[in-house]
Amino acid sequence: MSDMPNKTNDWFYPPEEIVKNAHVPDYEAVYARAQRDPLEFWAERAGELEWFEPWEKVLDDSNAPFYKWFVGGKTNIVHNALDRHIQTWRRNKLALIWEGEPGDRQSFSYYRLWQEVNRFANVLRSMGVKKGDRVTIYMGRIPELPIAMLASAKIGAIHSVVYGGFSEQALADRIEDAQSKVLITADGAWLRGKIVPLKETADEAVHRSPVVETMIVVKRTGQDVYMEPGRDFWYHDLVALPIASPTCETEVMDAEDPLFILYTSGTTGKPKGVLHTHGGYQVYTSTTLKWVFDIKDEDRWWCAADPGWITGHSYIVYAPLILGATSFMYEGAPTHPYPNRWWKMIEHYGITILYTAPTAIRGLMRFGDAWPNRHDLSSLRLLGSVGEPINPEAWRWYYTVIGKERCPIMDTWWQTETGGFMITPLPSVPLKPGSATRPFPGIEVDIVDDEGNPVSPGTDGTLVIKKPWPSMLRTVYGDPDRYVEQYWSKYKDKGYYLAGDSARKDEDGYIWIIGRIDDVIKVSGYRLGTAEIESGLVSHPAVAEAAVIGVPDELKGNIIYAYCILTSGFTPSEELNDELKQHVRHEVGPIAVPAKIEFVDSLPKTRSGKIMRRLLKARAMGLPEGDTSTLAD
Ligand code: WT7
Repeated sequence: MSDMPNKTNDWFYPPEEIVKNAHVPDYEAVYARAQRDPLEFWAERAGELEWFEPWEKVLDDSNAPFYKWFVGGKTNIVHNALDRHIQTWRRNKLALIWEGEPGDRQSFSYYRLWQEVNRFANVLRSMGVKKGDRVTIYMGRIPELPIAMLASAKIGAIHSVVYGGFSEQALADRIEDAQSKVLITADGAWLRGKIVPLKETADEAVHRSPVVETMIVVKRTGQDVYMEPGRDFWYHDLVALPIASPTCETEVMDAEDPLFILYTSGTTGKPKGVLHTHGGYQVYTSTTLKWVFDIKDEDRWWCAADPGWITGHSYIVYAPLILGATSFMYEGAPTHPYPNRWWKMIEHYGITILYTAPTAIRGLMRFGDAWPNRHDLSSLRLLGSVGEPINPEAWRWYYTVIGKERCPIMDTWWQTETGGFMITPLPSVPLKPGSATRPFPGIEVDIVDDEGNPVSPGTDGTLVIKKPWPSMLRTVYGDPDRYVEQYWSKYKDKGYYLAGDSARKDEDGYIWIIGRIDDVIKVSGYRLGTAEIESGLVSHPAVAEAAVIGVPDELKGNIIYAYCILTSGFTPSEELNDELKQHVRHEVGPIAVPAKIEFVDSLPKTRSGKIMRRLLKARAMGLPEGDTSTLAD
């Protein structure tokens, strides 16, 4: 399904009221203006934030593709996200409202959040964490997660958040690659009424990657956990120390100094550390959030992603705070204890904008209309979607049953690498279900063939970004060659960024994303590399070789099929099948568990020895095998 967005030509026009009051009531005019002089356009956007010292040059492209933005500017994203608001009336405005899965609640004014961040920043500083040091964070969706991110950034450290759904090996690899001496975690996280044992996993990961010298543990679930003397400390003990004062000086950063590393899946087994910086990222994420979701002071914004992914970094933590907005965050599962949990919270907190993923919408849609219909959802004004193409059925349900045909849906296409929304409607843009519509002002994209020439409307091609933008990734951490090779080598002569997706444009210039063209699989919107899952499988003694593919699925977009050749001495069985699934869950994480494992005697390979996943996929789906001339036998 995610391979084939159903084309529909139905237009959906935004209510006049929404267009009239939007920050940007005329997309076309603003797009045209930005296109005429992108650098002036970005300089204007940057001018809306505070800088300790102004930049000398908006863009330095002398060493492309290692672009630099706002060169010479001095800043710190936390100054714009917190410090400056404390000087204004926003000091007493709610920054974050939070609800735990068991039903406990907390809220933070800008002033309180600022104090909490300062306390923890002082703790980190007193432990010797310095500008440029890497801090790994592995937690559930609790307020201490954004607090830890902001505290690290405030003192100039580089955070690397690892999603709490990852397991031992995935966490160990990310700690190792970043060479983090500090790991911040929690005893556990609540999910579907059960405890996810984060501390146990963290212990195992540190055992495998012993670079970690200090572990700071938030008490969330309260069960007994092992604490290693001299290495492990409770968060609540540390922030109660006299050193943890509620004021803390913000480190002055260069615009191009690293803010965070976020690991994402690519073509090889080793995850890529996507690097973002303070200056350009703050400008781009805050502009896109303000214009696309039309954030106003009276809004209650709910981005239902996890802070452990880019969506959460940009649109739960940084951009909403920079805009001085009120955000809502929820810890647990959407269906716990009943499938009305989300709708109940929208009613209770008066959420005005909901931003989520197609897989979550489809998951809630299955329970029928009665669950949302029991609640007053009239506070909603705008809706959003991200992570994979949204199928028209889910779009219509979201639009009709949740938005009551009043709330335009912002289908935002972007990536960990892009930092912020790239192809997306603004509230004034007429919609077509399943299309992410048009590029954001200042962004130029195209759909091209293998030579980089634009394909004609209606034809599938490769999606490229034609000009640099402020929140683009700066490099792959510790591997600049991979950065150049992965994103910039295919269309080297033209200087295009290769996004890794195929897409088509229709007669109206609307863009329809089709799906990944590399060995990346989107499962429930999560991005997984075939190689990561395969190495998880072959780390089990029974598996000699493995190949993994993504197969379209109604609910999850794609599900994982795995083909395994067994080591001699092992025989196929139901038990072994289950054991391998458990093994992947344990090593990589629950999101990586194959829906189906098949034991095979051989795998189709090219003469140069590469597994032909395309062929496995065609066979699994009962489709024609296509060109098999490169097949080895
Ligand atoms: C890949 C990037 C950006 C936050 C979440 C994912 C797919 C993302 C859409 C959309 C169709 C989408 C693409 C992209 N994707 N948004 N609105 N319509 N496809 O970030 O994990 O880095 O994944 O997600 O395939 O390349 P990510």
